[in-house]
Amino acid sequence: MQFLTMIFLNNFLGGDEMKIAGFGVEAWLNQYEKSAVYDLSQSTIESLSLAEISKLTGLTLSELFGKQKLDYGWIEGSPAFKQAVAQLYQQVEPENVLQTNGATGANYLALYALLEPGDQIVAEYPSYQQLSDIPKSFGIETVYWRLDPQNNWYPDLNRLKQLITAKTKMICLNNANNPTGTLLQRDFLNEVVELAKQVNAYVLVDEVYQPLSADASFVSIVDLYEKGISTNSLSKTYSVPGIRVGWIATNDQKITDIFRKYRDYTMICAGVLNDTLAVALLNNQAKVLARNQQIVKENAEILTNWVQREDKVELKHFPAIPFAFPKFEINGDIETFCVKLLQETGVLLVPGNRFAILNHVRLGYCTDKATLKKGLQLLSEYLLNY
Ligand SMILES: Cc1ncc(COP(=O)(O)O)c(C=O)c1O
Repeated sequence: MQFLTMIFLNNFLGGDEMKIAGFGVEAWLNQYEKSAVYDLSQSTIESLSLAEISKLTGLTLSELFGKQKLDYGWIEGSPAFKQAVAQLYQQVEPENVLQTNGATGANYLALYALLEPGDQIVAEYPSYQQLSDIPKSFGIETVYWRLDPQNNWYPDLNRLKQLITAKTKMICLNNANNPTGTLLQRDFLNEVVELAKQVNAYVLVDEVYQPLSADASFVSIVDLYEKGISTNSLSKTYSVPGIRVGWIATNDQKITDIFRKYRDYTMICAGVLNDTLAVALLNNQAKVLARNQQIVKENAEILTNWVQREDKVELKHFPAIPFAFPKFEINGDIETFCVKLLQETGVLLVPGNRFAILNHVRLGYCTDKATLKKGLQLLSEYLLNY
């Protein structure tokens, strides 16, 4: 009896669950993605194979990898990598780019290196859960800046003015936002920067979903603010999540040096083969983006046409990122709907409750067209009878 009481207390008062919450979307995907027949849950634009990369870059696999010694390589990422990444920004020098294990590693590094107990952060919510729950697990006071569906999921600056205090060390944003797709405009970000400056706070922006359109309205935080930190990777825009290469970029060497110090404790390198592939893709940016812009455009059209025919689905304009966040008019909870949908049709979505939003789903539409079309057709039939 005493033993059972101890287990109970451990689970509810002192166990691991108390230290960090489960990562809603990742836990969902870990459990279900390999059993999906029509996977409409992913947030990557149809991943590239080695054969496709070889064709796209005009380099054989032997030319890419043949002479590569499998040592640790360049610890911070090769000079070619740092140079290519720096060119994605206006105000970033190659020495202020550090390679990480995906954007996941970059976000973790920024939070681990800069925050300490007693600090407070303001985190956009919902968002990629790392950006609020890692700080929370470090004992940092986490204040949520909620996105309001009535305001088309756009955050309210007046609200930020109320939330910021002298203790605010960092504002955490995700631009464009996972899951809502909210794309933050330059004027808006400039106002965030002005507020951050008043309390000398960092602004960390996870920019993995930089939209893939000619729409020039996207601006990186490092091109706006000396305490801005940009995290990004080759997982989404460049279609190679499997190489696990991301980066953290700033325009201030002092901040980068802090990251350098903490980075040595969390990783050595991302792997020489991965660096080679990352450089090959970044050096062929125009070709990769042309491929992906076409996928986004054509598949968005398929999705939009489908939505127009569906009575139970509501979806407003969404930016050129690999997923949309439609609302479903259904009875019952959205997770049960998604589990049954998978079991009965093989179609996988991500239920909105995994981001603390009810009645919405994250629908990844940048998969191959046959999967998208069949998946949407099965979803239609399922919605009709639900
Ligand atoms: C907003 C956001 N940041 C980071 C990641 C992880 O990216 P990476 O594969 O580069 O670690 C994801 C993956 O879904 C994401 O949605």
